[in-house]
Amino acid sequence: MREKLKTKFIEVYGSSDQPIHMYFSPGRVNLIGEHTDYNGGFVFPCAISYGTYLAVRLTNSETVKFTSTNFDFTAEISLEKISEKVGNEWINYPLGVINEMKKIGIPIKKGVELLFDGNIPNGAGLSSSASIETVTAYFINNIFGNNRLSREELAKLCQNAENNFVGVNCGIMDQFAVSMGKTNHAIFLNCDTLGYELVPLNLSGLKLIISNTNKQRKLADSKYNERRSECEQAVKALSHVKKIRNLGVLKLAQFQEMEGSISDKIIKKRALHVVSEDQRCIDAVDALKEADMNTFGRLMNESHDSLKENYEVTGLELDTLVEEARKIKGVLGSRMTGAGFGGCTVSLVKEEIVEEFINVVGAAYKNKTGLNADFYIADVGNGVRKLS
Ligand code: GLA
Repeated sequence: MREKLKTKFIEVYGSSDQPIHMYFSPGRVNLIGEHTDYNGGFVFPCAISYGTYLAVRLTNSETVKFTSTNFDFTAEISLEKISEKVGNEWINYPLGVINEMKKIGIPIKKGVELLFDGNIPNGAGLSSSASIETVTAYFINNIFGNNRLSREELAKLCQNAENNFVGVNCGIMDQFAVSMGKTNHAIFLNCDTLGYELVPLNLSGLKLIISNTNKQRKLADSKYNERRSECEQAVKALSHVKKIRNLGVLKLAQFQEMEGSISDKIIKKRALHVVSEDQRCIDAVDALKEADMNTFGRLMNESHDSLKENYEVTGLELDTLVEEARKIKGVLGSRMTGAGFGGCTVSLVKEEIVEEFINVVGAAYKNKTGLNADFYIADVGNGVRKLS
């Protein structure tokens, strides 16, 4: 991988006597706790072995050069002009990070050549964007910041880049997971306090299958921001009964006592999802610790059903993958993962039926939607790092 990327780098930028530095940041899959992070709730993601490689070389010019093996668009931007957004291009993710780093006193001080190379499907809900952001932040911190920022700080900075520069009001989950991930562990994160616990993922005899709908996600960002504002409306209405700072502070029973203050039925459903999902996430982590994988699977199913009925972020493609998966004996649970509106599902399945799963679900999905799904076995890996 590294040698191939190096060869490609030299093909793109030519040779020089400067060393090429290599970095990697993973993608993530969220096991449970969906659309809870920006509500101050719990999430339970893990980093995966797929991700974004970045090759970097310092130059004597005053520009930053951007190339990716995944997108045609390339750019060369002078260090002075680095603060402007460039249309809807992929480089806005690294540009956002470069700007946030500059704001906190870690600017890129010299010209650099950058080659990004990702093997996570883009826009599939596996955090390809957080992966690009984090690998950028990590390299700047490493080369120009003397590794001053901690992994937690890098995660927060990348979230700021996405919120402020790209314009998606995402929560902290993705950036945190790809920064802090650990092989064979999932991260139980309290998004209100950023307190977290690395929980061993003992999947003995089971596999996590990621199924990609391969549906083009249109308007996903704007619908995401819409959900976020619906949750804010719920907090406002509930605060007439008792002042709360976010939905994450409510237990289900408390919410049920107060929900009369929300007159809008849709807003009420959104809040119900968040509050119940938070509890499911806590329960799922307990179940995993007790090696009760059937309960874990049931909670995954309930999570999807709530995302479908109450949060309304699934759609035909995700629902079909989940329904077809659940028909197979040996599937303990199946749900959408990430923001929704397309993207991927994650299923917990017995090892011996993996092949059957891929064949049967793939065929039924094609039949119903006309689309080909892709399947990956999730390998749980480490967070962002320098490759040496
Ligand atoms: C996206 C966002 C995350 C989170 C999920 C939904 O992945 O980037 O912050 O809100 O959607 O759980």
